[in-house]
Amino acid sequence: MNGVVFVRMCLESGVHGGCNPTLAQVETVLRFASVSKSYTRGQETIHALDSAELEVRSGDFVAVTGPSGSGKTTMLLVGSGIEQPTQGQVYYRDRPIDAFGKTERKTFLSQDVGFAMQHAHLWPGVSALNNVSAALQFAGFHPREADELAADALVAVGLGDRIQHVDSELSGGQQQRVALARAMAKKPLLLFADEPTGNLDSEASRRILQLIRDLTEAAGTAVLLVTHDPAALDYATRHIVIRDGKLLESAPGDGS
Ligand SMILES: Nc1ncnc2c1ncn2[C@@H]1O[C@H](COP(=O)(O)OP(=O)(O)OP(=O)(O)O)[C@@H](O)[C@H]1O
Ligand SMILES: [Mg+2]
Repeated sequence: MNGVVFVRMCLESGVHGGCNPTLAQVETVLRFASVSKSYTRGQETIHALDSAELEVRSGDFVAVTGPSGSGKTTMLLVGSGIEQPTQGQVYYRDRPIDAFGKTERKTFLSQDVGFAMQHAHLWPGVSALNNVSAALQFAGFHPREADELAADALVAVGLGDRIQHVDSELSGGQQQRVALARAMAKKPLLLFADEPTGNLDSEASRRILQLIRDLTEAAGTAVLLVTHDPAALDYATRHIVIRDGKLLESAPGDGS
């Protein structure tokens, strides 16, 4: 769907400033300019990301694959501004993320970015519904609207019968789906999802992948999805392979 003009949904609550005309067109939402990220432990330095170049446009559905330890999670953490690069710059819509002030950063993380972590990280002891609704309320939605959208999102991920369950009453795959519903419900401009189908059977996995694809097409959300699931390449519009912290754009549908 690259090159297609997307019409972004107007959000009645005014989140994202309502219908922002600049969002009605495909634009570069995320850019890595020679981004490196190293971790130092004692004498050892691990180069988790190595001079990464990347440009992601609204509506892109980017599948990221690579061996364990190759830097996939690091790429999402740096791309979302949760972690700082050691070198280089990450841009969000032409603004370097590290230049964001406190308020801009809070808005970016609560409204513009949805992040479903590799380990679900649900708020413990809080129902699935409230996990999703609270994130929507942080993003500026009215509590009643947040509850409605949260319930819809949970139904969409196949958890309509689990909305009152807390984390300890949900399976690993169900917790991941709550985390994904929490990240997707606000229709973010950027969605980061770290192996969201890792614990799912193939039918549930395809349902989730289709849901993410639908979000990219309906709302213009740009998606970076880390996966070991070959089925994801049927839904993604782009495929990035990462090896030893280096990014390589692969042909769509190439399972290597
Ligand atoms: N906080 C940290 N401190 C030190 N090293 C780290 C840290 N986080 C990650 N690493 C190292 O950086 C490298 C990349 O880690 P990352 O979590 O990005 O891998 P990954 O591709 O997501 O792997 P997996 O598929 O197993 O989730 C690994 O070698 C890891 O051990
Ligand atoms: Mg990882």
